Amino acid sequence: MFKKKFKKIDNLFKFEISDNVTKNVTAFYDFAPFPNYKNHQNKHSLNSIGENNFLFKQLKKFLGNNSNFIEIGSGTSQVSNYLAYGTNNKIYAFDPTLKSLEMGQLFAKNNNINNIFFVNADIYDDVIESNSFDVALCSGVLHHTRDPYESFSKIPKILKKNGYVIIGLYNSYGRIRTKIRRMFYKYFGKKFVIFFDPILRNLNKDPKKNAEKIKSWINDQYEHPVESTHSFDEVLRWFELHNIEFINSIPSCDCATSVPSDIFKKSGITNKMERIFQQIRMNFNSFGDEGGLFIFIGKKW
Ligand SMILES: C[S@@+](CC[C@H](N)C(=O)[O-])C[C@H]1O[C@@H](n2cnc3c(N)ncnc32)[C@H](O)[C@@H]1O
Repeated sequence: MFKKKFKKIDNLFKFEISDNVTKNVTAFYDFAPFPNYKNHQNKHSLNSIGENNFLFKQLKKFLGNNSNFIEIGSGTSQVSNYLAYGTNNKIYAFDPTLKSLEMGQLFAKNNNINNIFFVNADIYDDVIESNSFDVALCSGVLHHTRDPYESFSKIPKILKKNGYVIIGLYNSYGRIRTKIRRMFYKYFGKKFVIFFDPILRNLNKDPKKNAEKIKSWINDQYEHPVESTHSFDEVLRWFELHNIEFINSIPSCDCATSVPSDIFKKSGITNKMERIFQQIRMNFNSFGDEGGLFIFIGKKW
């Protein structure tokens, strides 16, 4: 599975991290690991959150059993723990921020989830053998790396033939609302975004209970030291350069379908005008509320 030297601590494999941008980013997440577990959360409550998430519920069904799965930039590894729970898949949660992984590791231990492994490494460092995984998920991560395309190019290699990649990135058009709020945040601080950010407004209905979540959302959306945005066409180019066939996207490339009902079913890429329209449209629906994150799913030839 691994091609570089590591230290093993229970089910956690620890590699040397040397890149300065990554070190800077991990120092940031050490302060506010993302996403934060809710107080008193256990595998049952995490499972019901996962079952209510359109993407992760379909992903868990798609993985079925006996699959090898990796989540790159898993943070506190909530998605990985959800995917591991109740299956015999081998789930690898990969992240350079040790503190985040340790939270995921503790959750797995406390909840007796034994088919999850933690990898403390940087995507740049190519620590994983080629052709290892059936599915790789990397959401909310590449746009926080020094060179998102270079980081992406590490993923196809570790997929098996016919393996699937799912990537989530901030959209250049769909993140306009957050970009405007970021400008105001600089001058007016937390008070401004608590009122104007729909996610924070919702969390702030119970500020005591959600204190940690509020802190990690503000940090992730408004304080991040490394952030870039990307378009559908950019990712289509990345896929083409790495022999990845486009399968589907959220939102869909097709104006008539906002969100595809089956994300693993092949759909068309439509035309450039339609794709731009779909991305601008993100500002007027829940995609914009959630910071303009879009998902692309591809299959390795
Ligand atoms: C916003 S969090 C996303 C966490 C999780 N994927 C989610 O969507 O909830 C970004 C994560 O990317 C990780 N990350 C940043 N640079 C990375 C790199 N070079 N290689 C792998 N992961 C990285 C960070 O440590 C952090 O945990």
